[in-house]
Order: sequence, then structure tokens, then C-alpha cells
Amino acid sequence: MNNPITDQVKKEARKLQRQLTEHNHRYHVLDDPVISDIEYDQLLQRLIEIEKEFPEFSTPDSPTKRVGASPLSAFEQATHSVPMLSLDNAFKDEDVIDFHKRCIKNLNQENLFYIAEPKLDGVAVELKYENGVLVQATTRGDGTTGELITQNVRTIRSVPLKLHEAKFEAPSLLEVRGEVIITRSDFDRLNKIRLENEESIFANPRNAAAGSLRQLDSKITATRPLDIFVYGTGIAQGISFQTQSQMLEALKEFGFPVNAHIKSGLSIESVLTFYKELEALRDSLAYEIDGMVIKVDDISFQRQLGEKIKSPRWAVAYKFPAMQKTTTIKDIIVQVGRTGILTPVAILEPVNVGGVVVSRATLHNEDEIKRKDIRIGDTILVMRAGDVIPKVVKIIESQRKENEVSFKMPSHCPVCHSKIQKTKLDKSIINKCVNASCQAQLKERIKHFVSKKAFDIEGLGKKIVDQLVDEGMLKSFSDVFLLEKEKLTGLDRLGEKSATNLIHSIEKSKKISLRRFVYALGIDHTGEQAAKLISERFLTLKEIMETSEEILKEIKGIGPETASAVTQFFSNLENKGIIKNITYSDVIITNDQPSYTEFQDNLFANKRIVLTGTLQTMTRSEAKKQLEKLGANITSSISAKTDFLIAGEKAGSKLAKARKFGIAILDETQLTALLKENV
Ligand code: IVH
Repeated sequence: MNNPITDQVKKEARKLQRQLTEHNHRYHVLDDPVISDIEYDQLLQRLIEIEKEFPEFSTPDSPTKRVGASPLSAFEQATHSVPMLSLDNAFKDEDVIDFHKRCIKNLNQENLFYIAEPKLDGVAVELKYENGVLVQATTRGDGTTGELITQNVRTIRSVPLKLHEAKFEAPSLLEVRGEVIITRSDFDRLNKIRLENEESIFANPRNAAAGSLRQLDSKITATRPLDIFVYGTGIAQGISFQTQSQMLEALKEFGFPVNAHIKSGLSIESVLTFYKELEALRDSLAYEIDGMVIKVDDISFQRQLGEKIKSPRWAVAYKFPAMQKTTTIKDIIVQVGRTGILTPVAILEPVNVGGVVVSRATLHNEDEIKRKDIRIGDTILVMRAGDVIPKVVKIIESQRKENEVSFKMPSHCPVCHSKIQKTKLDKSIINKCVNASCQAQLKERIKHFVSKKAFDIEGLGKKIVDQLVDEGMLKSFSDVFLLEKEKLTGLDRLGEKSATNLIHSIEKSKKISLRRFVYALGIDHTGEQAAKLISERFLTLKEIMETSEEILKEIKGIGPETASAVTQFFSNLENKGIIKNITYSDVIITNDQPSYTEFQDNLFANKRIVLTGTLQTMTRSEAKKQLEKLGANITSSISAKTDFLIAGEKAGSKLAKARKFGIAILDETQLTALLKENV
């Protein structure tokens, strides 16, 4: 018998399930949420309550299933209906051309069109949907048999538990294949938390994804930042595709994340050009890729070409150079930084990592060396990620010969020999040389002073600064302006012409903006952005030197550490003398930023603005310039302090984040209108 109350509850449960599924997809796949996290959690909580009281209303595709189920004692095995093959590798253009020649010969075609996709560096999975509902998920395993990880995969927010049926009806059976990944930033965050909890850290995002997927307790998987991109299908009943591109379009319609850097309709020449483009993009992607997968786009051609035992004849993986390599540690030296902090650095047997020869890797600090048990003579795995300094991932224990030498932090500065001071910062011990006139610190301070974002003295490179300090020609910042051509000529690496050019760039650098000047001083906690914010608040250096910590703290974006470091720096007598000497060397400090007060009556004045997406009528840097003219502070990441997000086309996660924080969002039309109004 129907009970009107339970009918009502059932209706509510179904509505909540629908709403939550939609919000989840908007957030995790489209990057376009329309409700806040709190509102989402409230809806989810209500659904959890209903399903607890009326378990009969809970379905396998209910969003409540994403929190994890009861732990398993072991994984069950499952055989793939269609084997999950691997790919043949190509390492150079000729290998790809050979692949192309084989394809056109076998198909008896003049030419062929290809689709090229990033080769995602994660864990391959297969998701089985019966009548549109996710019923099973498996790992690739040995290609024939994998492990059942259904409960774990249900916790991945970007995996649809039910197919979207906006454009196509759900097929009776669809097996979808893809790669589970963890983004670089999520990986860093995950490892940071693991370190804080004294748990072992993951070597790379792929290991982290694999480890997270192989949890018997899916509640643990639910806490891991797993994501997915899909790239293919296994069995499909009730739907068919003519091309791989069509298949990807359909998968997108069904609600799956499909990678954005995919190109189709490519000739083999364009495939090779795209490979270069993708390689250039590699370091800037949010996730790791290790190559490009080239596929014959036409599926009937794929069928004709067929498969070998382990890999298809219609696809090839054009690999990028590896980002992790093994090498040995020849020595561990200690570097003294600008602020006196000692950093141990591993001197490596040079090795090519992802196209760059690496001969040094930072070891961060003493604790890190202890934690990873790094010794001189060890064989190690070294990693380069993006433009970050190479780092030692781990030692290869099986290569230990037991004649490796442990490292000990010196008790005295390796350069000036003064006693090292140990201080605690967060959980690590910092070793610091506190002798302000230490030559090593002086060298680093001067390098910073003349660097591109500071005085920008072209021709005064690191090696020349080292030489000039060693020769006693640079003892302080102001000595840079006393350098003479005659004395420079004859130094290593400096001929007459370079010396003339150097003197010329020193002269040119003497006219400097206030923000660059403040940055050049190398004050603790005062990077480019802080220097900019401070210089915008004051008209002259004198004003900054005389201001108080309280006033500095009032500047939006200036924290207490910077405020205190700046006032301490300027109250120090020695520093006052240094600044006096610089200004006596004919250095002219200009404040090209209109002053703080001049900015007050426009909408963008003193506002923190982030730009994202593609603009049509101007480039992002033009927009940045125009906004800066009006006194805006352009920052690169969204925080609660951001005032506006300017969102161009294809704005992604920043847009989602801005919505989450409730930050005002302007599109290009609004921006151009407001810029006009405010000029
Ligand atoms: S296609 C038969 N496409 O690479 C076709 N695979 O070495 C094989 N992979 O196990 C899969 N990104 O885990 C394909 N865009 C992509 C891929 C991709 C990563 C992985 C996948 C597969 C391995 C083959």
C-alpha cells in the first residue's frame, strides 16, 4: 500500500540525488559550480539522513556512495571482456613516420587522419555502465584480468555514477576506459599532510594515485584527491562511433572529463608539430603527462589494422624524455643563501632529465637528508618537475654498497667560518650563518640586487659577481656603481667590449622605480609583490623608511612578518648607511606608479584582481597593464582577499574558486566598459 509520507520522502530523496549529481558534475568536471560547498554539504547531509532511515531509497548511483563503503578484506579479480592493451613506444620522429608508413601500407591508403592525445601518467581503469549506471570498476591488471575497485572509484568526484542523458540515451552496456590521476598541486598537498602526520610520502603523483586506488577501505580513498580523464571504450552495446573523436565527444556528453589538449584531423606532419607544442606545454599542465598517444581516428580503419598480442597496430605512444632518472651522488656541499640559511646540495653525476642536464639537486635541509637517509655515493632517483629545482626523490636501496658516507651539517659556515646558529622553523631545524658580512651571503645579496626584477644590470651574471666579490671589488651594494671599465677589463670572462657594455648597463640601471629598489634590497619576507604593494602606498623611499609597522600592516596584502621585517630593516643603522651610499651614487628612484591617493576614485584602485581565460579584444598582459594604471594589484591566484576575477573564455578552476569565495566576476564586455569609464 502506498504511504503518502514515504512517497513524499522518496520524491525528496530522488530530487536530492538528481541535484547533488548535477552540482557534483558542475564542480568537478565543468569547473562551474553554482552553489557553495556549504550548501552542497547541507544537501548531501539531508540525503544521507533519508537514506539511513529509508535504505530502500538508496541506489548504487546515489551521491552518498561517494563517501566510501565498508572495508574489503581483499580485492576480487575480474576478467576484462576486451583486453586492456598497452601501447608501442616511439622515441623519435622517425619512429612515428614508420608507424604512419605501416598504417597506410596495411590499409592501402594514400593518407590518413590521426587524433593525438596527451599520454596521461596515472593508473588505467575500466568503468562499466549498465543502462547508464556505474556497476563495476576495475584496474588494468595484466591487461586480461584486473582487480575490482568499484567502491573506490565511486569516491572519485569526477566519475559519473550515472551517465548524463542530455544528448544521447544511455546505452544498455558501456565500458569506459581512462586514467586516474592526481594533479601536481594536490600531490604536493597530500604529501605535505602525510609528512606532518609522519607517514611515508609518495614518490610521484602516479604512485599516489595507484596507492589511493588500491585501498581496501574506500573511506581512505574518498579522502584522496583523485581525478580522471577518459580516452576510450571497451564493449559498447546500444551505441557506436565512427571515429575516436566522435567517441570522445559522446563521452563528454555522458558527463566524463575528457582532456582539453586533444587534436584531431591531423596529418602525420601536423602530429609531429603538435608533439612539439604539447612538449612545450608539458611543464605548465596541472597534471603529469609522459608523452602523446597518436591514434588512427577512423574506427573502421582501427578494426582493419587490428592488434598484436599486447598492443594495437592503430596507435602509438610518442614518449617525452623521462622526468625522473637515476644517477649517483658524488658529493654533498653546503650553500649559503642571501639570508644566511645553509642548504645542503647534492652534486650529481650529470644526467639528462626531461631534456635538461642536471648536475645538482637541492636536499632542502638536514631533516630531509635524515628522513630519506641520503648518503654520499648513493644511487638515487632524481626528479625535475616543471621549472622547479631538481630534487632527490629517493635513494635506490638495492644499490647500496655500504661504503656510502653519511652527511653531517657543518658546525661553522663553510665560507666565513663563523659558528652556525640552529633555529626551529615549523617542524624543521634551520641552520643559519648569522655573520652579516659573510662573503657567501654578500655574493647572493648582490646577485639579487642586480637581478632582472631588481636593478636589472645586464652582463653582471652570477659568475662575474662571484669573481668581483672574491677580488674585493664588491663589498657592498653601492660598489656596483663604482665599477670602472679599466678595472673590469681583463677579469675572466670580461673582454673590453663586455666591460663597456656592462658599464653602460650599470649607468642605465641608475634610474629605478621605487618598487624595484625596495625589492632589490632583499629584505626578509619582501618579494616582488610585497615591494610593489608598499611602493604603491608611499610616494618616496623616505616615507617608507619612516613609516611604522602598523601602517604597513594596514596595506592589503602585507602580512605582519613583512611589516616587521621592513621596519626592522630600515631602522638598522648599517642598512641606513648602505642606502645612503646607493643614493649618493647618482641613483634616481622614481615612483612611476601614480600615488595611492590619486587612485582612490576608480573602481579598480587598490583592488586585488586575478585574470583568467582567453580575452578576445586584448591580451591578458594588455589588460593587466591597463588595470595597473588604474592602481589595481594583479595577482596570480585566487584567495579570499581577491576583489575581482576577470574571466575570459575557457576560464577554468580559478572561476570555480572565485565562485566558491563569492568573489565578483567580470567578463570581457564588463571589463572593457568599466575600463573606458574609469580612464
Ligand atoms: S589508449 C589500446 N590513450 O597508456 C589503446 N592510453 O601504454 C591503449 N594512457 O594502459 C590505450 N593516456 O593507461 C590511451 N590518451 C590515452 C592515454 C593512454 C594514458 C595509458 C593507458 C594505457 C597505457 C598504454
